[in-house]
Amino acid sequence: MNTASGVPYLDLAEAAAADEPDLSFAVLAAVRRGRYVLGGEVASFEAEWASFCGAARAVGVANGTDAITLALRALGIGPGDEVLTVSMTCAPTATGILRAGATPVFVDVEEDRLTMDAARLAGAVTPRTKAILPVHLYGRVADVDAIGAFARERGLVVVEDCAQAHGAAWNGRPVGTFGRTAAWSFYPTKNLGALGDAGAVTVAGAADADVADRVARLRSYGYATRNDAGERGFNSRLDEIQAAALRVRLRKLAAGNRRRAEIAARYDAALAGAVRVPPPPRSGEAPAHHLYVVRVPDRETFRARLSEKGVGTDVHYPRAVHEQPAFARLPRGPLPATERAMCEVVSLPLHPLLTDSEADRVIAAVLASAR
Ligand SMILES: Cc1ncc(COP(=O)(O)O)c(C=O)c1O
Repeated sequence: MNTASGVPYLDLAEAAAADEPDLSFAVLAAVRRGRYVLGGEVASFEAEWASFCGAARAVGVANGTDAITLALRALGIGPGDEVLTVSMTCAPTATGILRAGATPVFVDVEEDRLTMDAARLAGAVTPRTKAILPVHLYGRVADVDAIGAFARERGLVVVEDCAQAHGAAWNGRPVGTFGRTAAWSFYPTKNLGALGDAGAVTVAGAADADVADRVARLRSYGYATRNDAGERGFNSRLDEIQAAALRVRLRKLAAGNRRRAEIAARYDAALAGAVRVPPPPRSGEAPAHHLYVVRVPDRETFRARLSEKGVGTDVHYPRAVHEQPAFARLPRGPLPATERAMCEVVSLPLHPLLTDSEADRVIAAVLASAR
């Protein structure tokens, strides 16, 4: 509960205070144990995260960008290969692919849901295409059925970017289990957030134990055995303090997601006539409600009016990936839905600690600002 009259977009110190004293106890215990990188906390978190995601294995890594790189590299995807993905995401989706040595190829998103438009895949495939990497943006589930069917037909692998979709599911099956591997970020703002950078790769099927083992080698210099690199790897290890914090917060993730869903429903009911609210979930879709993103024609005026009323907002994201200088030369199809959305999207406060009265203050401010 924020006692000031305004409603900040997100206050991570407030979130940390809510997790006291469990966080302090777990972190201090990890400090006292004297093992700081890849120890028992990491192993326990990996087992608990795999179980939460319905995955065969989870391998903790340093962040979500590295998770994308390692999720691809462990499947043998690298230089010379193309990966179909979206530009309606943030830079690390492309960075993770590029760092694997592969080339991202951007396809457009569905106009309303803003996740990969499977109908655009056929037009973007080349003989170099090896993988499809959809993003479950804002916690919404991409069209995994159509993407999966296309991938099977063309002999491509699917790797899911689940950085924003902790706990989302499609027909009862958790996201991250539709591709062979999935990349997770535990950046502090995520539904499951660490006290710094952290990430994981999950491997959906037990038959892919060798893929998980390869991720585990790649994250630690490519060592097959200690001090003996079987292949060129990275330093992308998860540390014990982050794993200890993640284990504390994982216990509250399902409840946090339920609270996010309640706030989103409150916003939906009150705001539908005033701004373009997110489309309702498809039948079978259980979103993670990571972000509540509305669309308005004049974003800057809208945000300024909300700010005057003390309501914080954010933009995810101000520019599509292909519109940023570092990625402008990458191959892409036409991206009209992406470009339209990127000018209009505004994220409203949405986190488990938001009270009903704060949500109502956000609603009142939006209703007064959307004219
Ligand atoms: C969709 C998406 N992909 C990848 C990432 C990268 O994660 P990280 O910041 O942990 O490297 C993020 C988070 O920032 C993200 O939102």
